[in-house]
Amino acid sequence: MDTKKEIYDFFAKYVYDKTGILYKETDYYRLDSRLNTIRSTYEFEDDQQLLSFIKKPFSLTDEEFILNLFTNNETFFMRDLKPFKALAKSLIPEIKKLYPTDPTLSIWSCACSTGQEVYSIYMSLDSFQNIVRPQSINMEATDLSTSALAKAKSGVYTPLDVQRGLPAPFLVKYFTQHKDEKDNISWAVNPELKRWPKYSTFNLLKDIYPTNKHHIIFCRNVLIYQDQDNKRKVLENIHKALKPGGFLVFGAGESMIGMNLPFKQVEFNKAFFYQKE
Ligand SMILES: C[S@@+](CC[C@H](N)C(=O)[O-])C[C@H]1O[C@@H](n2cnc3c(N)ncnc32)[C@H](O)[C@@H]1O
Repeated sequence: MDTKKEIYDFFAKYVYDKTGILYKETDYYRLDSRLNTIRSTYEFEDDQQLLSFIKKPFSLTDEEFILNLFTNNETFFMRDLKPFKALAKSLIPEIKKLYPTDPTLSIWSCACSTGQEVYSIYMSLDSFQNIVRPQSINMEATDLSTSALAKAKSGVYTPLDVQRGLPAPFLVKYFTQHKDEKDNISWAVNPELKRWPKYSTFNLLKDIYPTNKHHIIFCRNVLIYQDQDNKRKVLENIHKALKPGGFLVFGAGESMIGMNLPFKQVEFNKAFFYQKE
């Protein structure tokens, strides 16, 4: 087999087995820049060296590096906007009706990437509606990528990050600008946002889900990279992790059409959600 194809096939299979992320042969060009990063990081002089590297078992550090590299962490603040407004205006009041005596509500962002989704949830709850203060929510945020989680935990964003989706009044209210000695600007979320979520790693395909725990789960723009069997497996587990009547928030354009799972589609404030039946 030609060396290049052997390398592509190896990484496509490795990443699929570890994460469920699919790189089909027609998508192999999307591996190129990642493979170049591996070549330069490990200072391989040619593909024979890369080939001998992949023929030996990876150390835990290698594995973490590779999985961080092959996940796509694209995200931005207030992505799709409508679900965030609907969360504050409708989902939380609906949940309060179903669970009037629950002292805290529990929200899980299960593929939170670099944290923009999580801080957007805080800002929405704090700004669009006041029936539940973010402080009275148990916010759990997980991802497979440790590098994405490190950025989420730091709560520090570049000027480009904050230009993507974040309304200017939110930037002023919830962030503080910093300048380093070289005059590089960054924006840090304020301490009350930074300490709000509990971050941890969680692999949607390998780890054990809680039962009947969360009132709302955000699972956005992650299952689009999975095949139908793995998507079903994750959704069955999310169903288990939600409380009865709890809501699943998908990305715009994602759906469960044809999957016949025990969720019903509901609409609030022009946004669609799935409710556990
Ligand atoms: C495209 S980002 C979406 C981020 C955010 N939910 C949004 O919609 O803006 C997808 C995230 O899913 C994570 N991911 C991919 N496969 C995963 C898996 N098997 N378990 C947990 N997280 C995974 C990636 O690391 C990445 O951060």
